[in-house]
Amino acid sequence: MSKLFTKDTQAIFWNNNKTAIQRMLDYDYTIKRETPSVAAIVAPTSGNKFEKFFWGGDEIMIPLYKTTADAKAAHPNADVLLNFGSFRTAYDVTVDALNIGGFKTIMITAEGIPERLARGMNAMAREKGVTIIGPATVGAIVPGAFKIANIGGTIENIINSKLHRAGSCGLVTRSGGLFNELSNIISLNADGIAEGVAIGGDRFVGSVFIDHLLRMEENPDVKYMILLGEVGGTEEYKVIEAVKSGKIKKPIIAWCIGTIAKHYDSGVQFGHAGASANADSETADYKNNAMAEAGIHVPATFNDLPAKIKEVYESLSLPAIPEPEINTIPKTRRPKQFICTISDDRGDEATYAGFPISSVATPDTGKGIGDVVSLLWFKKQYPKWATEFIETVMKTVADHGPAVSGAHNAKVTARAGKSVVESLVTGLLTIGPRFGGAIDGAAKYFKYADDNDLTPAQFLGYMKKQGVPIPGIGHRIKSLKNPDLRVEGLKKFAKEYFPATPLLDYALTVEQLTTSKKDNLILNVDGTIGILMVDMWRALGYSEEEINEFIESGTLNSFFILGRTIGFIGHILDEKRLAMPMYRHPMDDILYDVQEAEEL
Ligand code: ACO
Ligand code: LMR
Repeated sequence: MSKLFTKDTQAIFWNNNKTAIQRMLDYDYTIKRETPSVAAIVAPTSGNKFEKFFWGGDEIMIPLYKTTADAKAAHPNADVLLNFGSFRTAYDVTVDALNIGGFKTIMITAEGIPERLARGMNAMAREKGVTIIGPATVGAIVPGAFKIANIGGTIENIINSKLHRAGSCGLVTRSGGLFNELSNIISLNADGIAEGVAIGGDRFVGSVFIDHLLRMEENPDVKYMILLGEVGGTEEYKVIEAVKSGKIKKPIIAWCIGTIAKHYDSGVQFGHAGASANADSETADYKNNAMAEAGIHVPATFNDLPAKIKEVYESLSLPAIPEPEINTIPKTRRPKQFICTISDDRGDEATYAGFPISSVATPDTGKGIGDVVSLLWFKKQYPKWATEFIETVMKTVADHGPAVSGAHNAKVTARAGKSVVESLVTGLLTIGPRFGGAIDGAAKYFKYADDNDLTPAQFLGYMKKQGVPIPGIGHRIKSLKNPDLRVEGLKKFAKEYFPATPLLDYALTVEQLTTSKKDNLILNVDGTIGILMVDMWRALGYSEEEINEFIESGTLNSFFILGRTIGFIGHILDEKRLAMPMYRHPMDDILYDVQEAEEL
């Protein structure tokens, strides 16, 4: 892996750090990346499913996951983890990611991870061949390809420092602040950088100068390197060795900051935990001299560094780098209030989940209302057996006569002179746990029982404890003696066309037990639909989590709501056609049991 990142590199960002993520996306947009550099965000405590970010003047949604494992499973190509956990969680997050596997690079921003843990974590990563950048770092950048979080600062600063496109310097620093300073100096005195890493300020960082310089030696985009070291530690000596042994042949310009330390009486620790000399050989002067002796370009003072960069760069006579076209981020951006992921009416013709209406509407398309439901409710084109099942359900529940709760209400309302929509809504509002709206509950409880391998008797006992009648069991008029032929029809369809019906098979064993107690405790039409929908989704490859979400959000009852709307409208139109007068319930059909007012 000679290049740290490419223009296709994608990261999983641990912690919903919106400002840093937006900076990455602004960079992506500016350099005309095709995909966002952040594929997913891990936000363990958030209940949200996505976060909106600007992409230029537009907005995109980045999915949120509760765990790194979930994010990685959904985005296997994202091979960089940007660990923005605090110093309390950063270690666990890193070790978890190393165990999950599939990450090439893990960047850790937290400062102050206990050194014992940091050493263990770094050793584990090295063993697994994973590059750790940090802890205590702002990260790394491959200009024109991928930029971690805040490195390089604002987009204006990035353009000024020519970090929007690859130059020819490989830059390694400890400090993030000085990294930004130096990239600006390099842009003024040379042609910018090809790759840059701030390795971090802690004493024990995962990857050290030599790791990056050896990679840069292999990276054809890097023509020379700059190393900005610090007082403290001995990592610079590994670089000296590599230069002496010929492992590094490209020119290196280097400077260790902290030469002022000699003017203090005792050891001074500079800003970073690692920036303190424990021996003469760890002082900045000592290291600068040793590097100069090895043939590394070391300026006389830090102030001479820009001139040294110019000198080495010019000696290489590199061809001028063409300036690429970039996108400009609009000055004002407005977040959108609504999101739509199912249909789009902006083109010549509106689409259902990407399908133009004309491609599903007329009979010659071969598509039915089941296809439209699958597109608009599930954003997928379901196979024929599934769309036909959806249609079968809707046709089956379209009406069950005028006496049922909802139709009765719709009729009474229509007779009170209300409009179609008002009467319809009255009917729809009747749908609930007892009438037509037991489908979600049936799916939920039967699935729970089956998932937990409850025997029918255990399931009945469990439901008794819950204190609710089993949704999907029981009917006012249908029974073993008077079977519900709608249920028979749905079961027959499923047996013929479904790849498998495990939940239905389980439900039928429950029905055997309930009907042995009372013969109207049959698996009713709501129950059959709920259970078969779960079997359908399982056969279509949905995860259990996705199916549970469908159940929780009331998706299953929606099939009854949609289907029965047909019948309710029929009853309402019937009332209008018949011009029926207002309904009043016969008083002799009401048991009046009102107490007399006490005499004053
Ligand atoms: N689970 C367990 N026991 C039940 C169930 C059930 N689903 N339904 C009725 N029982 C029991 C009652 O506890 C009662 O027991 P008891 O005699 O020991 O007191 C007995 O059966 C009769 O109860 P009722 O409420 O009188 O039964 P009824 O026939 O009036 O109720 C109803 C029918 C409302 C559908 C009922 O069975 C029920 O609530 N089922 C669950 C909800 C449901 O599936 N609704 C959808 C129906 S289909 C549709 O609307 C399209
Ligand atoms: C229906 O479909 O409305 C019925 O199953 C309810 C009923 O009472 O018939």
